[in-house]
Amino acid sequence: MKFVRFLMKNAALANVPKHIDHFSKFSPSPLSMKQFIDFGSTNACERTSFAFLRQELPVRLSNIMKEINLLPDRLLTTPSVQLVHSWYVQSLMEILDFLDKSPGDHRVLGEFVDTLVTIRNRHNDVVPTMAQGVIEYKEAFGQDPVTSQNIQYFLDRFYMSRISIRMLINQHTLIFDGTTNPLHPNTIGCIDPHCEVAEVVRDAYESAKLLCDQYYFGSPGLELQELNTNQKGQAINMVYVPSHLYHMLFELFKNAMRATIENHEASSFLPPIQVMVAIGGEDLTIKMSDQGGGVPFRKIERLFSYMYSTAPAPQIGRHEMAPLAGFGYGLPISRLYAQYFQGDLQLYSMEGYGTDAVLHMKALSTDSVEKLPVYNKTALKHYKMSQEADDWCVPSKEPLNLAINRLAK
Ligand SMILES: Nc1ncnc2c1ncn2[C@@H]1O[C@H](COP(=O)(O)OP(=O)(O)O)[C@@H](O)[C@H]1O
Ligand SMILES: [Mg+2]
Repeated sequence: MKFVRFLMKNAALANVPKHIDHFSKFSPSPLSMKQFIDFGSTNACERTSFAFLRQELPVRLSNIMKEINLLPDRLLTTPSVQLVHSWYVQSLMEILDFLDKSPGDHRVLGEFVDTLVTIRNRHNDVVPTMAQGVIEYKEAFGQDPVTSQNIQYFLDRFYMSRISIRMLINQHTLIFDGTTNPLHPNTIGCIDPHCEVAEVVRDAYESAKLLCDQYYFGSPGLELQELNTNQKGQAINMVYVPSHLYHMLFELFKNAMRATIENHEASSFLPPIQVMVAIGGEDLTIKMSDQGGGVPFRKIERLFSYMYSTAPAPQIGRHEMAPLAGFGYGLPISRLYAQYFQGDLQLYSMEGYGTDAVLHMKALSTDSVEKLPVYNKTALKHYKMSQEADDWCVPSKEPLNLAINRLAK
């Protein structure tokens, strides 16, 4: 019996590339916040959701698996990336099992929820495991600009795809597990149709403050200001995923606190972190300003780089590291969360003074549409890119007068 199962599993595995080829020919279907809400409210139909997901999840998985296979061989073959790849293969096979099952059967629907939960748990550690793969690669082969750019391009798309897949899984499992969330009875899955932004700002601030106080025995205060031009005097709210908003703000607060404290070590006064929330007809913007001394302009782009961030391998068990800093993925992943619903995260810094982190989001739920990577020729071209000569002059290291002398000859 065991042997038969082994044979069956191998046969299924052998078919995986064919399935990936098939499903990657479809483009993922981006959902809007409004669609997520409609899907999950009054007319929530588990069968429809099931039928959508058993097609859409393989499409999203296959599109990104095509790109995993385009990674440089030496990265693709690291044990960490192989492990992540095996999780994707396993999860794809488990969903494909449902293709020929009847949506009308209650048992099938229940099994589907269980499978989604298993898949979500299996993929919990994808980010640190991939990061480990990048570190292994870098330690063995160093880094060059072309590979770094490829890895940046890939990881942004890969993590975005992961965020989107988890969103779909969370919505289905939360809505159809037959219970309501006692803490947040009005949420639809993980979406709050009236997410009060200032409340999330305060929550994220308090959590970061707790960490900061523990480590530094002090923390900067918070000055929060709301500008609601749409409905004067009312708290700004939006349709959003509070956990995503919290994640971004928590990361930004940790960074702002750490910079503020380290920049004011010598003085007893800590300038507060100022947060401004504004809403207009199109945008909802959150600006977080610190006086943490800033970052040179030249280095801003690097702060979002996966290859650069992981430069010193995070040493497991090294606890003297500031707990406010992780292994450098705070900003890039936060930017992905913002971009996922068509927003963005940008950093404006004045070296010598401080930094403004600006979170742009869509104010309208009809504009908040998932941003999803799609595997196509344009994507393929990115991975085939080779190093070409710069089309801007590289400043000469040669002293100017020497060069002029040579010209004069
Ligand atoms: N507000 C800020 N002021 C000064 N430096 C910052 C600020 N935010 C981020 N940085 C710099 O960017 C780096 C990367 O930030 P992040 O992605 O959150 O990773 P981590 O905090 O784990 O290092 C930080 O280590 C820090 O050097
Ligand atoms: Mg950080």
